[in-house]
Amino acid sequence: MMMTMMMMMMMMKTFLFFTIFLIEGHMGDEAVSVTGVAGGSVIFNFQYKDKISVERFCRDADDECIQAQSHLWLPEEKLTMTDNKSVNYLSVLIRNLTVNDSGTYEWKDNKDWSKEVKLVVQQEPCCGRSEEQTAYVQGTAVIHCRYPKTNHDYSKQLFKEQNGSLEAIFTSREASDPRFSINLNHGEEHFFTVTLTNVSRHDEGLYFCAAHGKMSIRYSLLFTEIQLHVTDAPVQSDLSVLIITVSVCVILLFAAGLSLFVLRRRCTKTKGSKSSDQRSTVEIDEINSSVYYSSIKEQCVQKPVSMNTVYATAQLPTVLSDSDPYTLAMKS
Ligand SMILES: *[C@@H]1O[C@H](CO)[C@@H](O)[C@H](O)[C@H]1NC(C)=O
Ligand SMILES: *[C@@H]1O[C@H](CO)[C@@H](O)[C@H](O)[C@H]1NC(C)=O
Ligand SMILES: *[C@@H]1O[C@H](CO)[C@@H](O)[C@H](O)[C@H]1NC(C)=O
Ligand SMILES: *[C@@H]1O[C@H](CO)[C@@H](O)[C@H](O)[C@H]1NC(C)=O
Ligand SMILES: *[C@@H]1O[C@H](CO)[C@@H](O)[C@H](O)[C@H]1NC(C)=O
Repeated sequence: MMMTMMMMMMMMKTFLFFTIFLIEGHMGDEAVSVTGVAGGSVIFNFQYKDKISVERFCRDADDECIQAQSHLWLPEEKLTMTDNKSVNYLSVLIRNLTVNDSGTYEWKDNKDWSKEVKLVVQQEPCCGRSEEQTAYVQGTAVIHCRYPKTNHDYSKQLFKEQNGSLEAIFTSREASDPRFSINLNHGEEHFFTVTLTNVSRHDEGLYFCAAHGKMSIRYSLLFTEIQLHVTDAPVQSDLSVLIITVSVCVILLFAAGLSLFVLRRRCTKTKGSKSSDQRSTVEIDEINSSVYYSSIKEQCVQKPVSMNTVYATAQLPTVLSDSDPYTLAMKS
């Protein structure tokens, strides 16, 4: 009885071992095919097992091989690789893709281990260009990212070239910097927008619209390159417009005040008997000018027709005073 039990257990273990082995073997051999866009770039990220010591990344068997370097972004290099040994993470960047870059690539160790990636590069009308954009310090920048139809369901990314690397601004829609926000809701249009508020000088640089995919390796497809320039806002012209507006308001008010003063004196003269009533009107005037206008009108009804034109002009500032030009003038 014990013997049969033990036999069964051993058989099960063997079975399990083979199953796991087969799955692993299958996983390892899983063909990875990635489609990039001409003019764009691609990043392959591969996490290798501890026991593997990857030596090189090669195109078409052993034709062209590269080794890991300290930086992923080297301005003159088309093909670069970094090896983050603390997390067993290999990153490969292939830039300025052309249809001729289509082919088979492989990571290799010094024995017979290898991991293969197939790259297909296609022309896409949406993408593959480099663009320039200007933003103002403390202003807002909106980056438009078009992508190929086939990448609609991919999660979207924005990279920035920083310190010899390409750093993702978003990790699953969360931005490490809260000034960045992403909007994916543009219906059937194949683009997304990234809004950056309170732009600073440090935001100047090279950005990449991208999408992220995952198979047995992770990869990012970079579609468009955007050089963001940051300049000082044209503050002076804005300020001078404000100054002119405020000055005009002040002059108008002053003129209106003057004509009202003259007008009131005339009214007081003609209706000298009601001088006590006038006092209270003046006090109210200091609180609310529109009340004053109506009381003036009442008191001077018998005035000649020619005065009506004065009222018409004198009433213009009332409208302005409703929108409070005094506080506006005080602010500036
Ligand atoms: C990539 O293309 C850009 C312009 O499209 C060019 O300025 C740059 O030098 C190219 N880089 C490489 C490594 O080919
Ligand atoms: C390696 O990866 C870890 C975790 O992502 C990161 O903190 C570290 O900075 C990376 N090292 C290098 C040299 O990139
Ligand atoms: C691709 O290769 C073909 C033949 O090898 C060549 O004629 C063509 O100019 C290449 N195209 C690019 C964009 O490098
Ligand atoms: C770039 O690297 C330098 C020195 O390694 C560091 O002081 C700086 O903070 C880094 N900048 C960014 C944006 O990571
Ligand atoms: C904008 O950024 C600057 C620093 O670059 C900071 O001092 C300021 O408080 C920020 N303004 C807002 C509205 O967040």
